[in-house]
Amino acid sequence: MIIGIPKEVFLGERRVSLVPNSVGQLVKSGLDVIVQSKAGNESMISDDEYVNVGASISKDAKSLYSSAETILKVQKPLDVEVELFQEEATLICFIQPLADSTLLQQLAKNKVSVFSMDTIPRIAKAQSMDALSSMASISGYKAALMAAESMSKYLPMMITAAGTTPPSKGLVIGAGVAGLQSIATAKRLGAVMYAFDVRPAVEEQVKSLGANFISTSISTEDAEGSGGYAKEINDEEQNKDREILQNHIKDMDFVISTAAVPGKRAPLLITSDMVNSMRPGSVIIDLAAETGGNCELTHPGETYNHNEVIVSGPLNVPSSMPLHASQLYSRNIYNLLMHIMKEDSLEVDSEDEIILSSRIAYKGTVLRK
Ligand code: NAI
Repeated sequence: MIIGIPKEVFLGERRVSLVPNSVGQLVKSGLDVIVQSKAGNESMISDDEYVNVGASISKDAKSLYSSAETILKVQKPLDVEVELFQEEATLICFIQPLADSTLLQQLAKNKVSVFSMDTIPRIAKAQSMDALSSMASISGYKAALMAAESMSKYLPMMITAAGTTPPSKGLVIGAGVAGLQSIATAKRLGAVMYAFDVRPAVEEQVKSLGANFISTSISTEDAEGSGGYAKEINDEEQNKDREILQNHIKDMDFVISTAAVPGKRAPLLITSDMVNSMRPGSVIIDLAAETGGNCELTHPGETYNHNEVIVSGPLNVPSSMPLHASQLYSRNIYNLLMHIMKEDSLEVDSEDEIILSSRIAYKGTVLRK
């Protein structure tokens, strides 16, 4: 099998799908790997490093796609890439199947089989392939640093000859993988942390990080859906939760929000009134900006000053830390590829849970809509 690693063309994407370490492992197991020239540049990886582990380099995307049967990517293909796939090729990448059925139909014309990194099941045996988690962890870490960078204060308590400053207070809304990492990072920097989430299981995790948990108004059984994810809450529940948040947000120096429900718009939990109640110099980092934002004032992809409160809605945060993001993603996608090969992806009626969840198109037939 010939594996192709294209250079990502999505605007601002700096990651590469496979780093030399994983390429070397594939080559040792008898596979051919072609890497597009400069594919690793933005992740500080040169073409020579790929050549040294046995890959060959293709000069452009066209020659790469025409030679490779299996394409490993980070971002879903853009139109200019879709037309390059050879017939019956296999694609593995983040493809957001719930959001992009048109793309799947386009790929189907060339009978492309597609595995989605977004739909790997959240089960113990798939943890090593779980790129949503590895990337969310980077986003959470970076969000804490962004908050610290934008604030007009220290995070830790500082005792100096010029006086003592109290520690900053931060609130994380949505304490999943990203939120827990934001809490851990901000705690390491010395902030006093609070967290709010609708899933009751989160309370123990938040407290184990030394943060305070703010309870929701929603009853336990209504909060958690399948796969450990949160359910979408109704308007009445959302209003009650906003009231709870209103009481806390005004005391916070920074808020990091990550609340999400798979396949839905992010819940709107931070209203304009709440932002207006915050002290000048406070900061909101809305990691849910990708799916519309948790804050009413978020403009996805922008950072701006609203009445002296910084409101930031960063997009594609993992790409801002491309070296480690590529290394982690590479391990995730390598482990999935090895699993697919072991389980024989050619069997369309596979019973394997990981393949059933991640394979969303097979030789032109879209399997999940
Ligand atoms: P996510 O990105 O879908 O959501 C982030 C957080 O927002 C979640 O904690 C969710 O409960 C919360 N949220 C949703 N709606 C909310 C609302 N209206 N108000 C407040 N908070 C709200 O979640 P993520 O981080 O991808 O993972 C969620 C869970 O999935 C994990 O905590 C865990 O239970 C499970 N998981 C399991 C894994 C495994 O077993 N291998 C790996 C990773 C996650």
